[in-house]
Amino acid sequence: MTIETNEPRGELTVRTGAMPADTNANGDIFGGWVLSQMDQAGGMAGVERAQGRVVTIAVDAMTFIRPVKVGDVLCVYTQVEWVGRTSMKIHIEAWARRFRTHTREKVTDATFTFVAIDENGRPRPVPAEGG
Ligand SMILES: CC(C)(COP(=O)(O)OP(=O)(O)OC[C@H]1O[C@@H](n2cnc3c(N)ncnc32)[C@H](O)[C@@H]1OP(=O)(O)O)[C@@H](O)C(=O)NCCC(=O)NCCS
Repeated sequence: MTIETNEPRGELTVRTGAMPADTNANGDIFGGWVLSQMDQAGGMAGVERAQGRVVTIAVDAMTFIRPVKVGDVLCVYTQVEWVGRTSMKIHIEAWARRFRTHTREKVTDATFTFVAIDENGRPRPVPAEGG
């Protein structure tokens, strides 16, 4: 987990409302829903960088610092941190914009690893940036 600042790191990639259907028995939003939004956002950033299909191969440890409530807007920021031969590490932060106050608080962050794949689902090299 990175040190919290008041500013998200990376590019705003996914912005979505937290709905009652996404809640657990406490009435808070499931961690799995947040994780899913992060995976989707990372996948979008990965597809853009790899210029084609990617799959998630790994997610590093995650800590949920604060809950997400119904009515909050979840904002997911992505930043490609490292590119290997076929894999990429993408730093992903999830922030909640609170329903009433509109203040923005970090919910969690993680590094996801995506692998670029070909049409047969096998790893393929990530092209050079801008290439
Ligand atoms: C992703 C997948 C195609 C990789 O195939 P593979 O034969 O294991 O590929 P490789 O061993 O050649 O590794 C590919 C890259 O992943 C990296 N990698 C492998 N295991 C890793 C791990 N546990 N963590 C991070 N990176 C990993 C390798 O270092 C390599 O990166 P590089 O080319 O930049 O050096 C295969 O594992 C797969 O299909 N996994 C399922 C993905 C998926 O369905 N995700 C959604 C889950 S529902």
